[in-house]
Amino acid sequence: MIAELDAISLYEQMAAATDNENIKIILLDVVKEEKTHVGEFQTLLLKEDKQQVEELEKGKEEVEEILE
Ligand SMILES: [Fe+2]
Repeated sequence: MIAELDAISLYEQMAAATDNENIKIILLDVVKEEKTHVGEFQTLLLKEDKQQVEELEKGKEEVEEILE
C-alpha cells in the first residue's frame, strides 16, 4: 500500500510539473489505476487484520468528534 501511495504521489507531482497535456492526461489516468490498487490491497488488509478495522473506526470516530 505504501508503494502504491508513493506511486500516486510521484505521478501527481509529475503531472503537475509538465505543461504537456498528453503526458498530464496519461499520468493522471495512471494515478486513478494506482488508487484502484490501493483499494485492492486495503480490501485484503481489512479482510485479514481485524485490529486495523477497529483502529480505522476509532480514528473515524475521533475525527467526527473533533469536527462536531
Ligand atoms: Fe500499482
